[in-house]
Amino acid sequence: MNENINKLREEVWLELEKIADLEALEKFRVKYLGKKGAITALLRSMGSLPKEERPLFGKAVNELSTEVEEKLEEKEAQLMEAKRARQLAEEALDVTLPGRAPRLGHRHPLKQVMEEIEEIFLNMGYTIADGREVEDDFHNFEALNIPKDHPSRDMQDTFWISSDTLIRTHTSSVQSRVMEKQDPPVRIIAPGRVYRCDDDVTHSPMFHQVEGLVVDKGITFGDLKWTLTVFIKALFGQERQVRFRPSYFPFTEPSCEVDVSCFVCNGKGCRLCKNTGWIEILGAGMVHPNVLKIAGYDTKVYTGFAFGLGIERIAMLRYGIDDIRLFYESDMRFLSQF
Ligand code: PHE
Repeated sequence: MNENINKLREEVWLELEKIADLEALEKFRVKYLGKKGAITALLRSMGSLPKEERPLFGKAVNELSTEVEEKLEEKEAQLMEAKRARQLAEEALDVTLPGRAPRLGHRHPLKQVMEEIEEIFLNMGYTIADGREVEDDFHNFEALNIPKDHPSRDMQDTFWISSDTLIRTHTSSVQSRVMEKQDPPVRIIAPGRVYRCDDDVTHSPMFHQVEGLVVDKGITFGDLKWTLTVFIKALFGQERQVRFRPSYFPFTEPSCEVDVSCFVCNGKGCRLCKNTGWIEILGAGMVHPNVLKIAGYDTKVYTGFAFGLGIERIAMLRYGIDDIRLFYESDMRFLSQF
């Protein structure tokens, strides 16, 4: 009988050696120590032994059973430890890796230029006025001394919505809106979107302008020159020169265009200024008396000046961008440079 026990013992140790995971260990436990297990079966078989052999045999089987249980526990502890070690290795974090910096957004280059311009005029005591993008013929044209069928309407390729409604072709429409609501003195700028039926590398059907309007007693062309010179130098640098050229706009008289000395070649002539040394920046003029009259202002008492400039043009000149479409494509590789 003891032979049986010793055989079983050998078998048990051999098998236990090979066990490599907790599941196999549990099967092993059932196989030997379970209700129908081999060791349990040995104990049960005791009844068939002669009485005098039973105590010794029982003792030997119990010893084996205790031994196996101990080994089992030992093995279980080993396997748990190994499992834990594996988990730790798998889930290991390298806390010395540099973190990922969150991507910070920033303002669009057009917005940056716009805000710079706003800042300059706010510091000069101007307020910001707002109009509407969907306009009527009256505020976009007629109130600005551009009658129906007047040839000067050709200057602005208009998107018409109906015979009387359009999307504004310039921020000058805000001039009419402001003067309609407000008595002089007026000192406003009006930034915003405008629309023209025009599309190439330097023209977009939608672009941005900033309008300026000043109306008060005794405003002269001298005030216009001083204001725009201060503005252009603040925007492009104090060392810049400013030049006023006669021009034509229906809503100003006299009218002018204003140039800044080229900030790339400093007036010597280069690709940017097309070898002229000068870069055109804005249109301006003294508010036409007809415009003041339509607004109900007394032209014997009040005079004023107005100006308008394109934001895209300024941003393109400043940053050396030669395709206007880049501003609207939301390409991060482009935008993140500013
Ligand atoms: N509205 C003109 C344009 O879009 C610019 C301008 C504004 C000129 C005010 C004179 C005075 O071209």
